[in-house]
Order: sequence, then C-alpha cells, then structure tokens
Amino acid sequence: MDIGMQLVTTGSELRGILLGDEQYAGRRVLVPTMGALHRGHLALVKQARHEAGPNGVVVVSIFVNPIQFDRVDDLEAYPQPLEADLMLCQAAGVDVIFVPDVREMYAGDRSTLVTEKSLSRTLCGATRPGHFDGVCTVVLKLFMLSACHAAVFGEKDFQQLAIIRRMVRDLDVPVTIIESPTIRESDGLALSSRNVRLSHAHREDAPCIYMALSEAAMLRDANEIIQHARKKLGDSKHLKIDYLSLVDAETLQPVNELSHPSILAVAVFYDEVRLIDHVRISPA
Ligand code: PAJ
Repeated sequence: MDIGMQLVTTGSELRGILLGDEQYAGRRVLVPTMGALHRGHLALVKQARHEAGPNGVVVVSIFVNPIQFDRVDDLEAYPQPLEADLMLCQAAGVDVIFVPDVREMYAGDRSTLVTEKSLSRTLCGATRPGHFDGVCTVVLKLFMLSACHAAVFGEKDFQQLAIIRRMVRDLDVPVTIIESPTIRESDGLALSSRNVRLSHAHREDAPCIYMALSEAAMLRDANEIIQHARKKLGDSKHLKIDYLSLVDAETLQPVNELSHPSILAVAVFYDEVRLIDHVRISPA
C-alpha cells in the first residue's frame, strides 16, 4: 500500500515516527542533502530505494547546514527551491522527508563538534577551514535522528565520502555507507546545486573542468598530469583555480608518483561560485 510522503520538521517527530510507527519498521535508508535537488541527488534516492527494498523506508533530509559554510555569501546565495524539491521527492518515491529549521538542529549554546583529523586536512579541508567539522557533525546528527541502517552519498564529493566512512569506522556508527557514482551533464559538467548560479558565459566554459582532468588522467607521469591539467584550466579566461592536486585515493595525501590508485582533484571559482570535480587514476 502506498502510504504517501510524510513531511517532518523536527528531530523528535522524525525519531518518533521512524522508531514508533509500524509502517516505518523496515530497513531505513537515509539520503542527506542540502536541497536544490538535481538528477545527481535523485540517483542517490533511486539507489536508496533499491537498498531499502520493498518494505524499507527512504528518508531524505534537506538542510542547508550553516556550520559547514566557510563564507556567509555562499550560505546566503545557496538556492532553496523547497516546493520543487518536495515534488521531486514525492515523484521519486521518498517515504519521509525531513526539513528541519536551523534552530531545531542547533542549540544556541551548542559546544560539541565532530572533527576528523587526517583526511580532512587536504583539498577542500585545507581551503575551507571548518567545513568538514560541520559536515561530520550534521551527518552524525542526521544518522542519530533518522536511526537509519544505511545512508547514500555521492562519489562526486569523494573527500566528504572518505571522511564519513572514517568517522563511521572510528566511532563505531552502526550505519552502512553506500556510494553512488557522479552524474554529469551531457557536456561533462558534474551536476551541482551551485551550477544554477553560473552566468551564461561561465556555464558555457565550465565543461573544461572535467575535460582538463580527463585529458590529464591519460598521462602516466604525476608531474605531467598536474602540469597538463593546470595548463588546460589556465586556457579558460573565466575560472580561478582554488586547488589542483594529485592525491592518494586512500590517504588523500599528495603524491609525486603513480604507484597506488590516485585521484586528480580540483576546485575552481567562477567569480564567487565554487565548483569541485575529480577523476580517478590507476597506477602506471
Ligand atoms: P549536497 O551538496 O546537497 O549533496 C547531497 C548528496 O548528493 C551528497 O552525497 C553529494 O555527494 C551528492 N551529489 C551531489 N551532486 C552529485 C552528482 N552530480 N552526482 C552524484 N551525487 C551527487 O553534500 C552535501 O549536500 C552536504 O555536505 C551534506 C552531506 C548533506 C551534509 O550537510
């Protein structure tokens, strides 16, 4: 029987129905998001639906988490098309949607943060101080509030995924982490909620990010890979590189040679819009 989608706005109500209501007693799979949903998010929901099985429960959270933003302008400009998001979730067969208010999520005198101290030191962690503390803290809270058995995350944010896996391992969090592949536009640009903030000229230019990474990934020498990607990205008149780095796929530490699986990762700015992407590179 289709029970329809339930919209919940407080943590206590969420735990209350998920743990107390017979119809939500199956395998609960969470998809944490910040909304402005696109096909990338919907692929995660589809995977969650599959993972939950016919008697399971798919929970999507939409929460623009202020404590993971390092810039106020980025937080304030973050798109929040809630009506459209709710319709997309309904159409995707989501069972419960959790849209908490910021005061509901964080006490005014909150003083506890979850900090991962190794994987979060490079890449986005190095250029966005405090970002991953904010991510780990909110994700752990969402795990607790939803009492989920599993949660789906996109490979697009591979550093976030690696850090969450580490947090789950280190803190014995009883949640299975499921990875979902990156969804791209037909021109290669990775889908992102921030893409709608690109100007027309910048949107036209942005496929060069993935093109530069993909071309560089065909080379076999670590220095050449970085140099080629930097040169290709440098051909763009519009973007500014935040970081470009070749890192070990496990430790996320920079590497000088291709002896292990590696990741070529980049973050760029188009004016104030920051986009990330990466490609995986197998050992030579
Ligand atoms: P958000 O950027 O909304 O992304 C929510 C989830 O969607 C993440 O797991 C992300 O990796 C995935 N995702 C985004 N774009 C994708 C794409 N093009 N293909 C596949 N998956 C994609 O990531 C966050 O929110 C937040 O940090 C969050 C985990 C919700 C904590 O606040």
